Amino acid sequence: MGFEVSRRLSQLPPYLFAEIDKKKKAAMAAGKDVINLGIGDPDTPTPGVIIEALAEAARDPATHQYALDNGDPAFRSAISEWFARRYGVKLDHESEIYPTIGSKEAIAHFPLAFLDPGQGALIPEPGYPPYRGGVVFAGGIPFPMDLKKQNGFFPDLDAVDTRLAAMSRLIYVNYPNSPTGVLATREFFQKLVAFAQKHDLIIVQDAAYAEMAYEGRALSILEIEGARERAIEFHSFSKTFNMTGWRVGFAAGGSELIAGLGRVKTNVDSGIFTAIQRAAAVALKHYDALVPPLVEMYRRRRDTFCGGLSRMGWDVVPPQSTFYVWIPAPKGFTSVEVTLKLLEEASIVTTPGSGFGLAGEGYIRATLTAPEDRLALAVERMKSLKW
Ligand code: MLT
Repeated sequence: MGFEVSRRLSQLPPYLFAEIDKKKKAAMAAGKDVINLGIGDPDTPTPGVIIEALAEAARDPATHQYALDNGDPAFRSAISEWFARRYGVKLDHESEIYPTIGSKEAIAHFPLAFLDPGQGALIPEPGYPPYRGGVVFAGGIPFPMDLKKQNGFFPDLDAVDTRLAAMSRLIYVNYPNSPTGVLATREFFQKLVAFAQKHDLIIVQDAAYAEMAYEGRALSILEIEGARERAIEFHSFSKTFNMTGWRVGFAAGGSELIAGLGRVKTNVDSGIFTAIQRAAAVALKHYDALVPPLVEMYRRRRDTFCGGLSRMGWDVVPPQSTFYVWIPAPKGFTSVEVTLKLLEEASIVTTPGSGFGLAGEGYIRATLTAPEDRLALAVERMKSLKW
């Protein structure tokens, strides 16, 4: 029929990970033994105790109706208790916590609550594509802040153009960081809060990888003095508990920000299946038993993969956190050229750094979501490539 898509949609490229998935499926259909280091989707299953909790909850007809609004009060209380234990911050379970359908949708919907068309949002680059997508869907203007190696992969807040900061209402950060694997320092978060206060910005902190740190522990932005009223932090069960397909997470932060998010969400969705909320509450209860072994598993994988790449002479820094390895592209190759060569000549799926924004050019991202022997095999295959 020749319908043109909206100007907003036409500003965005096709969704990065959906495109990579197509390439992976095509290679598999061609009979290749594909090693998938593309999307960050855990390869080990959801723990049994969470599945049992879901099955039990699903048998209770009280879980079968619309969850609506801010969800199951017992789930919000479980989040509040866990948050206090984990981060030392006591959140009000009515007004400072909001269950979300994974963190992606909430991150993408949040700007609709606080950004008017023509207003700006400072976003990190390289960064998770829904930061830009959410801002564009709200009619806003994304202003990238480059994450450079020489700045430890933190945005240089002193270098942000003050005119752009004045036009902006939101500033996005993501620590532990995808794709670079860097953990935020307390000093960086303090500086960020001071910057947000100075320019009257709302801080949007994506904490999807907060439970996956190899050195020290990840901080919540809400631990920082002055952050509580102007920050919203998005947490996810996806990577922490191997629950990507379940779509459950939560937002935590200032009550005005949570209320704004809630107003958007009640207009576009009808809540999370209550049985999933009950199962997620059980996951939090078993956090101490479930999460550290997973982190140890990824640590071993990280050491195998990064050790192998280093021995091959690749200049790779093992990530401090997340299951992502941010690898400089060999000299003379663009990010896309490296990922194509890896796929075509070694059947290894990775993500081009440029897919995370222009500032990601010159890198590729590999995930550790494959068993150790497959990661070792990936290194072996990479050894035979000519660059
Ligand atoms: C990633 O690989 O960065 C994420 O898992 C992708 C996503 O959540 O869409």
